[in-house]
Amino acid sequence: MIIRKATAIDKEHITKFCKNTFSWGDYIQDVWDFWVKEGNLFVLENTLPIGVCHAYYLDNNVWIEGIRIHPSHRKQGLASQLVLHIESLAQKRGIETSSMLIDVENNSSLQMAQNLGYVISEKWNFYSLVPKQFDACSVRFGLPDTLTIPYYVKSWRWLRLNNAKLLDLLNNNQVICCDKSDDPSFAIISNSEHFEKTMLITLYSGSNDNDHDLLSYIQNLCFRNNYYRIQILTKNTLAPSTAEYRLSFNLMSKLLS
Ligand SMILES: CC(C)(COP(=O)(O)OP(=O)(O)OC[C@H]1O[C@@H](n2cnc3c(N)ncnc32)[C@H](O)[C@@H]1OP(=O)(O)O)[C@@H](O)C(=O)NCCC(=O)NCCS
Repeated sequence: MIIRKATAIDKEHITKFCKNTFSWGDYIQDVWDFWVKEGNLFVLENTLPIGVCHAYYLDNNVWIEGIRIHPSHRKQGLASQLVLHIESLAQKRGIETSSMLIDVENNSSLQMAQNLGYVISEKWNFYSLVPKQFDACSVRFGLPDTLTIPYYVKSWRWLRLNNAKLLDLLNNNQVICCDKSDDPSFAIISNSEHFEKTMLITLYSGSNDNDHDLLSYIQNLCFRNNYYRIQILTKNTLAPSTAEYRLSFNLMSKLLS
């Protein structure tokens, strides 16, 4: 059994068993080419590739994503080997933390991560919305003075925000706020790097009114720009009329040093 960097040729073998991984399908086929290009896509090979996992390094953290093991080879410690391999490469780079996102109902994956020393740091909810035309909504760019943002989601990776990154987002008008009533709502908007015309929203929700105006503004923005879908990630629970609830995820992390 060896672990090596993936090449374009591995795609066919891996994606064959990554079609109906979850009730909603899988996304490995769609991100494969991007991940090969980004680097740090690893396959685990017996005589054929039977496992895959991608690592994304940013600052002091390695984000581990897309862990898949062929159904006939599960429960033999293979996913654990892939994760440990990436952790050891990250440690060699001096990286101190590792994190991943796991569906709250994915018991096998949660169990695997917990066995390897990962702990649940936060729970996030995923909602979706469709682009739609609305009248003008009262939102503004910027952030209420009193608020701080620990994370924002970029291409389904939870990135820690520092002052420089926040300034960047503010300068690009990616931080939108609605504070027409008490308890402001604010969101960071970003384009998916892997899926066409897909807007990702990191939402820090406030009152229902503020949430409603903020999200209507975003729906309108996406409508005008011909987006296909809007994906909202939030730690909060949204009112049922606000957006369609899809799934919940545990953000898992581990100290490597
Ligand atoms: C989740 C997944 C990657 C685990 O791969 P794996 O190679 O079977 O995992 P491992 O053998 O390394 O498992 C390590 C531990 O996880 C737990 N585990 C793994 N599969 C399990 C299952 N089906 N039920 C309960 N616990 C399980 C066990 O505690 C196991 O330790 P043990 O062998 O000492 O009992 C694999 O089931 C898979 O590809 N699933 C579909 C895709 C997926 O869910 N990916 C993760 C997305 S975050």
